[in-house]
Amino acid sequence: MSTDRVSVHGGWASRWVFILAATGSAVGLGSIWKFPYMVGVYGGGAFVLVFLACIALIGLPVMLAETLIGRRARQSPANALKALALEAGHSAKWSWGAFAGMITALLILSFYSVVGGWSLDYIIDMGRGDFQGVTADQVGAYFSAVTADPWRLTLWHTLFMLLSALVIAKGVVAGLERSLRIMMPLLFVMLLVLLGYSMTTGHFMQGLHFMFDFSLDRLLDGLLPAMGHAFFSLSVGVGSIMVYGAYMPKHSSLAGTVMGVALLDTFVSLVAGMALFPIVFAAGLNPSEGPGLMFISLPFAFGNVAFGQLMGVVFFVLVAIAAWSSAISLLEPMVAYLVERTKIRRGWVTFWLAFSCWFVGLGTVFSFNVWQQAKFFVNEGDAFHLYRWGAAGGLDFFGVIDFFTSRIMLPLGGLCFVVFAGWVMGREAVRDELSLRSPLLFTLALFLMRYVAPVGILVVFAAQLWK
Ligand code: PFF
Repeated sequence: MSTDRVSVHGGWASRWVFILAATGSAVGLGSIWKFPYMVGVYGGGAFVLVFLACIALIGLPVMLAETLIGRRARQSPANALKALALEAGHSAKWSWGAFAGMITALLILSFYSVVGGWSLDYIIDMGRGDFQGVTADQVGAYFSAVTADPWRLTLWHTLFMLLSALVIAKGVVAGLERSLRIMMPLLFVMLLVLLGYSMTTGHFMQGLHFMFDFSLDRLLDGLLPAMGHAFFSLSVGVGSIMVYGAYMPKHSSLAGTVMGVALLDTFVSLVAGMALFPIVFAAGLNPSEGPGLMFISLPFAFGNVAFGQLMGVVFFVLVAIAAWSSAISLLEPMVAYLVERTKIRRGWVTFWLAFSCWFVGLGTVFSFNVWQQAKFFVNEGDAFHLYRWGAAGGLDFFGVIDFFTSRIMLPLGGLCFVVFAGWVMGREAVRDELSLRSPLLFTLALFLMRYVAPVGILVVFAAQLWK
């Protein structure tokens, strides 16, 4: 039996620390930066509703699958799938799915670090008072000036990557656990303070209406983006939660824990949206600003309201902390895998992987300046170009990586894990690992992993193609 395996990377002191770590992974730029701007772009309430449905019906079962695979095998994702597949008499090739996931995590980290770097930059800018009394145009120009400077972006990207690599290099128990104990509670407090502040703007109800009123005809618009974002937000589909599951104590309830993490993450996304939109409305700005929503609208808002400078610093510190604890979890799966496979020291493995991600991240840095005109997948009426310099449409380098990872690889990775837990591992192994007291709950969990989540993912893909 595999139930008494131990991880060579150490383990969380308690279930509570796993919750801290997994919440630290889940809550990040996805909740605070990406979720609000996607809500704005994809029509407010309709997107929120689909997102919540995807979290409950797809994201949650995938998260359960990942943690139970991780905890059962106590190894990095690719090795975990290999070990459990062989144990259940299936092909070791299942590990390829996890391997693809671990590569996806590194690709996400490459751009994640760049955006994380912006938030570090903005802490300083805010604190210096650069945004005091600015107009919307000025703050837009400020953001353009920041992103137009490849050196500046590279500097912050480098710093952010170094900060993330430092924790990973020290090892999961020593590094992660100690930092997260302080970071996570602080994050929640800061977010609630921000929410309280936004209630005083006089536009709180307008923000709520924007986020929760929806018209049925907009439901389909953001289906694939909402599903992709549910994966991104919960950190599932790439093995991040799986590797954290591998460090989880044996005797702790998986289902309850996973539910707690998903609830906390969703709560933070919703609170971030509820805190952010009233500020945007109070400043008379457009909620469908796109990826710039946070970095253009908020400094403007903060620059023009009482105590805005202080609130702005608090907000960007919050974002940087959240991004940092997520970046760590993007690096850990591949680091753990290489440490297991090669026996090279953790510090070296971390250094080389972080360096590679940093290097790929330069592509994202350049997407905002010197490579701004480099466009991929350009659809010009009847002509389609894989690549075209200076085209009006298409995706830049950053857009390609974001699209490929969030909309394609994360759902596919999630499909692989949930099918693995539902169909490959074997019912008894899953039952043993979940150790749910109620047979009814076990049947429900299995049903979600076997049918609801896989079918849900396939239906969303099909709906997208069919649209
Ligand atoms: N969940 C993180 C966020 O919302 O910012 C991002 C992320 C972390 C995605 C880890 C995927 C992952 F494996």
